[in-house]
Amino acid sequence: MPGDKSISHRALIFGALATGRTRITGLLEAEDVINTAKAVAALGAPARKVGSVWEVLGRGVGGLSQPSGPLDFGNSGTGTRLMMGVVAGHPITVAFVGDASLSRRPMSRVLKPLKQMGLEVLEDKDTLPLTIRGTSDLVPIVYELPVPSAQVKSAILIAGLAAAGETTVIEREPTRDHTERMLRYFGADVRSVADGALTRITVKGHAELQGRDVVVPGDPSSAAFIAAAALIVPGSEVTIEGVLVNPTRTGFYTTVREMGGDVAFLNEREEGGEPVADIRVRSSGLTGVTVPPERAPSMIDEYPILAVVAAFARGRTEMHGLAELKVKECDRLAATAAGLAVNGVAARVDGDTLIVEGAGEVRGGGTVATHLDHRIAMSFLTLGLASSAPVTVDDATMIATSFPEFQGLMASLGARFG
Ligand code: S3P
Repeated sequence: MPGDKSISHRALIFGALATGRTRITGLLEAEDVINTAKAVAALGAPARKVGSVWEVLGRGVGGLSQPSGPLDFGNSGTGTRLMMGVVAGHPITVAFVGDASLSRRPMSRVLKPLKQMGLEVLEDKDTLPLTIRGTSDLVPIVYELPVPSAQVKSAILIAGLAAAGETTVIEREPTRDHTERMLRYFGADVRSVADGALTRITVKGHAELQGRDVVVPGDPSSAAFIAAAALIVPGSEVTIEGVLVNPTRTGFYTTVREMGGDVAFLNEREEGGEPVADIRVRSSGLTGVTVPPERAPSMIDEYPILAVVAAFARGRTEMHGLAELKVKECDRLAATAAGLAVNGVAARVDGDTLIVEGAGEVRGGGTVATHLDHRIAMSFLTLGLASSAPVTVDDATMIATSFPEFQGLMASLGARFG
């Protein structure tokens, strides 16, 4: 599997904030991550590929410099929001821009806490384009996340690296913890403490990070498309090697197992401070399930592909607690339900719940509107692998933002693209 997107962004960003050289093996070379590499380079920390390894020359926390123009993050919410946390701790003024999808997504969720720390936001609005001015005098805060978001948590912790004192983020529901793990690996003082049902994550400011060697494990969110294909295409058996199986990311695999999917984590090991496994998936008869809301953070990007799998199951699948899906690369609740409906699957949205009536087979034949959303495009192309008639998506170019190898890998497993 190509490298994990979340970990790839963080490796570039922490490399830029460290002193010395960071060498990254297995960096995901997709558009979202390349935009983050360009952004750290524009701030004075060159990131480039040397042979098969990416190298970042770090400038230290507080050591980045004024870029000469706007930073363009393309389609990437993660790049944008994490880099807002970086800029907050530097006395520089930076314009953030992105594509039409990114320019519709809410930024106040990160700007609100960052403003409390001392960031200035030059425009009074919630969406890109936005210009922000950081400071070398950030103040630490204690902040309870109003939404379960690893991006917001990470932006605050990254800003906290530069603040004078200890910054604490309080989480009600655990979200992906790659920032905490990797910051510790780079030498920051980061503590996660359970406090009843809450987790308090504290970072010590004026941190000194050391450049490190990072190995990026395979992306479980991209692997989910291959796993789904193996589950729904009769007679399949596929082993996906070297996939990140951090429990904050594996909700999709838990859910398809509950549906009756034959999914095994083989050769479990640790690589670069993260758990990794080879995932073997065999096609399986599936039954609809109810997915509880507390599972959402661990499979937040996998609901469109889970809904596709649910269409091939027998019986109803209900997925609860999906409010955050409305503010992803598109409104994924609406886009998923519409894509299923146009392919003959009974699906509806009820508040924050997505309901799919699985009939064990899918007619297909529809053309799906992807709304600049890579995961909608990949989910419905995967649906087409097992539907009676082929499925068309209106735009496949966005797949390059996260998984440029998708079409080639699927073709190598027998998929035919027209
Ligand atoms: C990500 C966190 C999630 C996820 C996104 C990547 C990250 O977003 O949807 O694809 O790398 O921190 P939220 O934190 O906004 O839920």
